[in-house]
Amino acid sequence: MAKAETVAGKVPRHVAIIMDGNGRWAHQHNLPRLGGHEAGRKSVKKVVQAAIAHGVRYLTLYAFSVENWQRPRDEVQGLMGLLRLVLREELAEMGKEGVRLRAIGRLQDLPEAVREELASAIEKTKANTKLDLILALSYGSRVEITEAAKALAREAKSGRLDAETIGEETLAQHLYTRDLPDPDLLIRTSGEMRISNFMLWQISYAEIHVTPVLWPDFGKEAFAAALADYARRDRRFGAI
Ligand code: FPP
Repeated sequence: MAKAETVAGKVPRHVAIIMDGNGRWAHQHNLPRLGGHEAGRKSVKKVVQAAIAHGVRYLTLYAFSVENWQRPRDEVQGLMGLLRLVLREELAEMGKEGVRLRAIGRLQDLPEAVREELASAIEKTKANTKLDLILALSYGSRVEITEAAKALAREAKSGRLDAETIGEETLAQHLYTRDLPDPDLLIRTSGEMRISNFMLWQISYAEIHVTPVLWPDFGKEAFAAALADYARRDRRFGAI
């Protein structure tokens, strides 16, 4: 088939993924947890390629949550190291394929070396238009909404904003995702029926696809299956 293997015309513009199950995959393969994250890195690459092949325009990956800082120090350091590798090695390749890297979250929390790598990858790929790859890093939806509320309160207090004029769009314009469309499809791997503080505002009308496949086993086929599931949905946005 040509571009998309799903039903023509029903490709989600924005796909967001909660990449879960690296730890369980590692356990199943008698590997340390970091071995699961390393395997998960390969899935990132496969899914980026699949998203491009299907004509998805925005792909957001939940790579590290604000809660993830509470994991053992070794695991956090390992994940930060992997992130640097992804930014340095994979991104150079992805950049050639038209991927623009972006990031959302409390980026100021990241170690300096990661922040520098991230800034460089964002800068180098900023003119690319095939796929926007948005990494959610030190991301938490409640923190994001709280920060937006704080910013609005400050603007109102200083007189720059009339509180009575605040609408949904005003709040949306204060989120990390201000210049991104809302996700159409949310995928969660490894079977957990949870949102885990991910894009709570933005997924209001997203279709949800939960697959039992663990993230390191998630590839082209599983991505195509999620898109096929999406294509069968009847989106009504609250209307009939
Ligand atoms: C969840 O699995 C996964 C993460 C917390 C990290 C995601 C990281 C990657 C996919 C690897 C590198 C990619 C980038 C972009 C840095 P889990 O550890 O919660 O799994 P479990 O629930 O089975 O323990």
